[in-house]
Amino acid sequence: MVKIKVQNSNVTYTDNSLSTIYNYKNSLVEIDSNGDYNVTPTFHDYQFNVDLTPPKTGLLLVGLGGNNGSTLVSAIEANKQAISFNTKEGEIKPNYYGSVTQSSTIKIGVDSEGKDFYVPFNSILPFVNPNDLIIGGWDINKDDLSKAAIKAKVLDFDLQSKLSKTLKKYKPLKSIYYPDFIAANQNERANNVLNVTKSGDVDLNSKLANLEQIRSDIKNFKISNGLDKVIILWTANTERYSEIIPGVNDTASNLLEAVKKNHSEVSPSTIFAIASILEGVPFINGSPQNTFVPGVVELSEKHDSFIGGDDFKSGQTKLKSVLAQFLVDAGIKPISIASYNHLGNNDGFNLSSQEQFKSKEISKSSVVDDIINSNRILYKEGEKIDHTIVIKYLKAVGDSKIAMDEYYSELMLGGHNRITISNICEDSLLATPLIIDLVIMTEFLSRVQYKELGGNNQQRSLYPILGYLSYWLKAPLTRVGFETINGLNKQRLGLENFLKILVGLPITDELRFEERLN
Ligand code: NAI
Repeated sequence: MVKIKVQNSNVTYTDNSLSTIYNYKNSLVEIDSNGDYNVTPTFHDYQFNVDLTPPKTGLLLVGLGGNNGSTLVSAIEANKQAISFNTKEGEIKPNYYGSVTQSSTIKIGVDSEGKDFYVPFNSILPFVNPNDLIIGGWDINKDDLSKAAIKAKVLDFDLQSKLSKTLKKYKPLKSIYYPDFIAANQNERANNVLNVTKSGDVDLNSKLANLEQIRSDIKNFKISNGLDKVIILWTANTERYSEIIPGVNDTASNLLEAVKKNHSEVSPSTIFAIASILEGVPFINGSPQNTFVPGVVELSEKHDSFIGGDDFKSGQTKLKSVLAQFLVDAGIKPISIASYNHLGNNDGFNLSSQEQFKSKEISKSSVVDDIINSNRILYKEGEKIDHTIVIKYLKAVGDSKIAMDEYYSELMLGGHNRITISNICEDSLLATPLIIDLVIMTEFLSRVQYKELGGNNQQRSLYPILGYLSYWLKAPLTRVGFETINGLNKQRLGLENFLKILVGLPITDELRFEERLN
């Protein structure tokens, strides 16, 4: 892999670390009594330090035996073992298409003729190679991943067969099952459950023991595989929302108490998040439910342990966060968005239940809010657009989710514009590369330290809610008091520029003076 070394006096390399001084510029805008905007430039000097050695990293998936889990392991094994396979279109070589870290590029400057110069995203800094991830995880279903991949119907038959022996070795650990949180139709999958009584009934009165079991699973995985670092990612079924109850899940100490008291509003995903935080292991939530109740967020702050979520932004929503931004930035006023989905995989089966659908509806609905709020010419304060989300289970289409969207907008002088999009998502093949990116980036961000120069000189890691992951997430978890950013281009720009400043490159501005000045 080529290395990038920037000739910048603010950058210092040692064998295994990189230190960069960056002057962060922003503008503070205040409205004065005449309604004028007073803008004051702000400057802060930061020193960033990056550990340049990618550690031996393990990934524990909650929901290992699902479509995403089995597709992820298959993709990594196919790439690692360079397994090509045949389809009716001919031979396919393994790749990581759809992954930003593995298959996209970043512009780092221009060549001597002024032409843009791009490098692979993963050459800008040393990231973990997904082929090197050690993977394990939990599932309430006991099937090994060879059987899971057959059930998922995602991979071509030849690849399923070629991977079969390898996938058989992946067996999910027993997991936590509180039936009230996922659809009743998932009950028959639940044959690998750790919270059962001696007679085999589901036990809802052992939440502290469940938490301890997950902590011990994490420790064992780390030790038995000789890992430096572990990351946990929830790709299990969408749960219903937990009710936020003062005294139960509103603070870290109340939440830990609620676990001890087996409170019914403590969900399996929240138990996994608590276990991860107490083990100092980053936890990412790929589903829409409110795993990160206020008590979890406070716990992550107390332990300085990274969290990120919620809900993978894979197909329909990703496009929405580009298209809505384009319309509003063009001065066109979307007045309604209708989003229909039908899908026939187990995720769709679970979402056919009202409470679980509601979690998804909330996560899908908020995605244009910041975009609308950015334009007070088109939208008055508090104005909303008509935005409806429909999801239907249609077994026949399997993992090939169909997303259909209609964007209805107001144009000049009472005219209207209607854009209709039909998007065949191939759900798990879109979601799996996102898992890779979330994990690779989380691991990397945990190697970044900073201090503010002229401040108290204390080295800190990034704030525990990893906002730079938002590009991959439908409803990005955001620090309390700050606005959630959904626009995809803004999300990518923030991430890309952060990586650039770490190596001493100027941030992307597209001024192109070489061409445009005389
Ligand atoms: P899936 O239904 O195929 O897999 C989920 C797996 O989780 C199943 O194997 C199930 O047995 C297991 N499970 C359920 N509760 C569990 C628990 N408490 N502990 C451990 N395992 C448990 O679903 P799929 O397609 O893999 O999606 C996973 C999640 O990702 C869903 O919540 C889905 O909404 C979310 N998601 C998926 C996207 C996609 O494009 N595939 C996009 C956005 C989010």
